[in-house]
Amino acid sequence: IKKEHWSPLLLDWFAAHGRDLPWRDESPRDPYKVWVSEIMLQQTKVETVRPYYDGWMDHFPTIPALAAASQDEVLRQWQGLGYYSRARNLHEAVQEVQVKYGGHVPENKKDVQSLKGVGDYTAGAILSLAYGQKEAAVDGNVLRIFARLYDIEENILSTPGKKKITALVEEQLPDEAPGTFNEALMDLGAMVCIPKHPRCPDCPLQGLCLAHRAGKECDLPIRLVK
Ligand code: ADE
Repeated sequence: IKKEHWSPLLLDWFAAHGRDLPWRDESPRDPYKVWVSEIMLQQTKVETVRPYYDGWMDHFPTIPALAAASQDEVLRQWQGLGYYSRARNLHEAVQEVQVKYGGHVPENKKDVQSLKGVGDYTAGAILSLAYGQKEAAVDGNVLRIFARLYDIEENILSTPGKKKITALVEEQLPDEAPGTFNEALMDLGAMVCIPKHPRCPDCPLQGLCLAHRAGKECDLPIRLVK
């Protein structure tokens, strides 16, 4: 399946089965909302994040609102989500966006990635979901899906493993709605191509999955902590 394009299969599945989530309520997406949701979702499950996200948006609906808040208020809203450096970094970075870019989240990769707490994944999510840019957003779900689809036996936690998979994602990213493609992968990874006992009969990509063909879907991905 090297260069074959399968994104339509995934996108059709997503249209029928994609999750209805509070941060998916607008098209195009508000970059601030994408940013907040992705930071909250980094170490936390969707169902835990949901009420926090709603409360956050009630308190800090915009970049200027969050930039003007005190750290105490910010930490109070985050209370219970854990990994509090996420909240402090987000607050600090939003203040930088307010001062340096007049409250507009930058639209180029370098500037977005230079914001505190924003790595490759979050930058890719913001640029693709809010700005429609053809950028990959490769997290653990995407690494798992691609390791199985392409029968990749490299360690997905290694730099070469991640690079190889990122290149394959970029090959598949559609010109139109790359953000939807990224989001569809998130849902496929959360609902179907799950870590243990993947639900292959429900997978729109089953017919092209090399790991499934070889009966190896439960043996991949390889995750070796260095
Ligand atoms: N996990 C990480 N980002 C996500 C998103 N935007 N929607 C659902 N699950 C996610």
